[in-house]
Amino acid sequence: MSTPLSVDYGYLRQLVFGLSQNVLDPSRDYLFDTRLSKLLRNQGMTHLEELVQHLRLRKNPALERAVAEAMTINETSFFRDGRPFELLRLDLLPKLIEARRLSRTLRIWSAACSTGQEAYSMAMLFREHFPSLAGWNIRIEGTDISGEVVERAQAGSYHRIEMNRGLPARFVVNYFDHLGESWTVKQELRKMCNFRQANLCIPPLPFHERFDIIFLRNVMLYFSQDTRKALLANIHRLLAPDGVLFLGSSEQPADPSIWTPVLAGGTCHFRPNHPDGHRVGRVDFASAAK
Ligand SMILES: C[S@@+](CC[C@H](N)C(=O)[O-])C[C@H]1O[C@@H](n2cnc3c(N)ncnc32)[C@H](O)[C@@H]1O
Repeated sequence: MSTPLSVDYGYLRQLVFGLSQNVLDPSRDYLFDTRLSKLLRNQGMTHLEELVQHLRLRKNPALERAVAEAMTINETSFFRDGRPFELLRLDLLPKLIEARRLSRTLRIWSAACSTGQEAYSMAMLFREHFPSLAGWNIRIEGTDISGEVVERAQAGSYHRIEMNRGLPARFVVNYFDHLGESWTVKQELRKMCNFRQANLCIPPLPFHERFDIIFLRNVMLYFSQDTRKALLANIHRLLAPDGVLFLGSSEQPADPSIWTPVLAGGTCHFRPNHPDGHRVGRVDFASAAK
């Protein structure tokens, strides 16, 4: 009788960390079995250790990336956590709109956008509550490390279960085209949004122009403290001096000296500090980890 193969989960954890900076706890090693089963099938393999040995022997960057992407947690929903969007509607956006009345431009970034619901929630918020901005240049960028979720965000098509999470009924009617079990975001909203694949932990970040609002929610919890610190310093450079950063409800900036937390509307957002008017330089991940 052949001995069952034991799996070198440590190798897989290290590989995921190297590519996405996501720290996976050994107590959750079982997730490799569930999340990589499709990839194994596609590779014609039956056991996870076969994959580990293949990766060890043959450097295969595409397959390594596929493993790292398959291990990301893509949980999201429309208007997730509600309060940031209410605060934007009632307070933050009216002020930003007044401040940008000459340039008539607003830039929003949903960093780690998963399947796009956060970006489309912003597009709906603009259309629903700020119709007078119809002639403005409003750009909503969404980025994620996973090509699969970025493709889904670009398609803007959602299943009934996703539609039932956080979306007011009138938004479903006004902003989606319905066919069978799938609801697709209307073209007028899709035009406001642009999605692309990008790893937040491999500088440079994919933008040069600054943003007025950045969402960086529910992704840093998978990163080490050093990675968080480096990422937030780079995000700081990409936020307008009067811009707003939202983190997930259980997340904090790793380096509080460059951010001012503001408690309002039952939630917390962050404003960038600019001591002496100087901008903070880009931090690279290797040096931040030293
Ligand atoms: C839990 S979802 C959060 C989605 C959305 N921000 C929200 O709060 O609803 C985390 C997302 O972060 C992405 N992610 C993980 N590591 C990343 C990295 N290094 N760079 C970019 N995106 C990453 C995952 O692919 C996943 O889609």
